[in-house]
Amino acid sequence: MNVNRAVLTLDEFTLQQLRQFPTATGELSRLLRDLALAAKRVNVEVNKAGLVDILGDDGSVNVQGEEVKKLDVFANNQFVGVLKHGISCAGIGSEELDDFVVFDDEISNNSKYVVHFDPLDGSGNIDVNVSIGTIFGVYRRVSEIGKPCTKEDFLQPGKNQVAAGYVIYGSSTMFVYATRRGVNGFTLDPSIGEFTLSFPNIICPPTGKFYSVNHGNFFQYNEGVRKYIDGCQRKTEATGGPYTQRYIGSMVADVHRNLMKGGIFMYPGTTDKPTGKLRLLYEANPFAFILEVAGGVATDGTQRILDIEPTSLHQRTPLFIGSKMMMEELESITSVNK
Ligand code: AHG
Ligand code: MN
Ligand code: MN
Repeated sequence: MNVNRAVLTLDEFTLQQLRQFPTATGELSRLLRDLALAAKRVNVEVNKAGLVDILGDDGSVNVQGEEVKKLDVFANNQFVGVLKHGISCAGIGSEELDDFVVFDDEISNNSKYVVHFDPLDGSGNIDVNVSIGTIFGVYRRVSEIGKPCTKEDFLQPGKNQVAAGYVIYGSSTMFVYATRRGVNGFTLDPSIGEFTLSFPNIICPPTGKFYSVNHGNFFQYNEGVRKYIDGCQRKTEATGGPYTQRYIGSMVADVHRNLMKGGIFMYPGTTDKPTGKLRLLYEANPFAFILEVAGGVATDGTQRILDIEPTSLHQRTPLFIGSKMMMEELESITSVNK
């Protein structure tokens, strides 16, 4: 078989990037490799989910008060495991764990990064064969190297991320990550077990035809949001609509589609939950970083997501994210917080 040298694996790609920075230590490349390894393990279990007794609730409730599916726990253990045993990560925050975890061993205390992640996003979709994902954001720690990492390392604004990414377990499995230099997508080639570069330098189209929102909550949104959604369904000068509504209930799948094709994703606050459902540190911030690098925009309706100063691990935020022109239309129609 001829080896197609035009195809780069994730490891080859990150090493190529590294060569352009003579002073870089390679810790970020290793971190990405660790995350990809955990993703491959999760991918195997996701594919087996219909066959073995791993589906369904494990009987516990996560810190958000939501039922935890078994795969959530499995995925969480995989990501914690690779990061704890790798050499690049000093500590983590996870949707599935009450508090930050400081690894506090000799190697980890000398590591540069902390990572926030949602090990399995869209887990309500597991047992109905709909795409699910993993989301992560990487920060350089601000505390002294050589010592255990601290709360300040974990509560940094999203603009401090050095990398962010997601894995989508879908019709094919993809690993997409961004650094300030660009967003690149890798598709898992199951025959060799490697993520290979398939979507280099992803740019979010400045406009598109998709809008993604939970319409069931329509009457719980504020007037500004309702007005914008109404506009999405009409042909107006402001929106250029009507747009096509697409919402699957896995943020990873919905935002991935809109990133590739152009579109807007919204999870606004509701009368019952004024700050919405999504979590700032491991859902909104990573996607806000990725979309901004790709040319898109992300706000909470008032301010840029990446500027929000976090106060706690599991805090929620309303989220409006997508193609630049569609986000400008949203802002011009009315303030979505009124
Ligand atoms: P998770 O499975 O990690 O709890 O996240 C699910 C999230 C997100 O992926 C999705 O966009 C949103 O929940 C859907 O919520 P609604 O069912 O309220 O629309
Ligand atoms: Mn999630
Ligand atoms: Mn989750």
